[in-house]
Amino acid sequence: MSNTTTHHGLSREDITNASEVAAARSIKSVYVYEAPVRIWHWINALAITVLALTGYFIGSPLPTQPGEASANYLMGYIRFAHFAAGYLLAVGLIGRLYWALVGNHHARELFWVPLFQRAYWTEVWGMMKWYAFIAARPGRYVGHNPLARFAMFFGFFLLTLFMIVTGFALYAEGAQMGSWQERLFGWVIPLFGQSQDVHTWHHVGMWALICFIILHIYAAIREDIMGRSSVVSTMISGHRTFKD
Ligand code: HEM
Ligand code: HEM
Repeated sequence: MSNTTTHHGLSREDITNASEVAAARSIKSVYVYEAPVRIWHWINALAITVLALTGYFIGSPLPTQPGEASANYLMGYIRFAHFAAGYLLAVGLIGRLYWALVGNHHARELFWVPLFQRAYWTEVWGMMKWYAFIAARPGRYVGHNPLARFAMFFGFFLLTLFMIVTGFALYAEGAQMGSWQERLFGWVIPLFGQSQDVHTWHHVGMWALICFIILHIYAAIREDIMGRSSVVSTMISGHRTFKD
């Protein structure tokens, strides 16, 4: 670093720091995600974590426990946690859909993608270049970035709907004929063929969702560090702040 001083007696570094401080004062903050969206996000993440952990063990059960069968209920507790989290996920998504109707316009971004707008694809392409380390700077977006919207609609929303529909179809087998689960989702098992097919697709769906989650958390943290605006704190406080 150069120590050259100006006629004010300030070093170049002092001037750079001073201009950074001046710029910092002009940082704009926009309120993006309302409280119901944020609370839903974290409850939903918790439910999916429980569902994936317990679902994994439903698919690959633990070895038989010693002692009388009536003295052990381990798999029963695991399945109970899965079903409780499954209800939380489904009720949460219904609540989130309601908020899309009454909330601000960012609350609707999760449920549709402007696939037929040319400008949208230009922005998606720009974000892909930024994520691939080809573009030097990302765009600035108040809501979700255009690539995130694509991932959230197809990789989260549609996939989660699929998990709920197949999950309740499997649940209907235990709840039996005439239950509301069977009346609403009884058509699913015949559609796939038989119960084991639904088990398999429900299982595959879990791994697809885990892929989304890995990319999602990577992108959220990476954008927080390298992007032009706040990201993780936006899903906590609701406010988006811009660095430049
Ligand atoms: C099971 C785990 C998770 C799932 C399924 C999930 C899912 C989602 C979904 C669907 C949205 C869109 C919200 C909406 O428009 O209503 C979202 C946004 C967001 N999530 Fe997650 N999330 C998970 C975990 C996390 C974690 C651990 C973090 C923090 C590191 C995180 C950070 C964020 C952020 C920052 C946003 C807003 C992004 C933006 O402003 O564009 N998520 N998440
Ligand atoms: C993110 C969402 C979910 C994930 C990741 C998930 C994961 C799994 C996995 C991996 C299995 C084992 C499948 C197999 O290999 O046989 C399973 C089974 C099952 N899931 Fe889910 N699931 C989800 C949502 C749901 C929902 C919403 C329900 C509805 C209540 C549900 C109900 C069931 C039922 C009834 C079974 C079969 C239990 C058994 O055969 O003992 N799941 N789940």
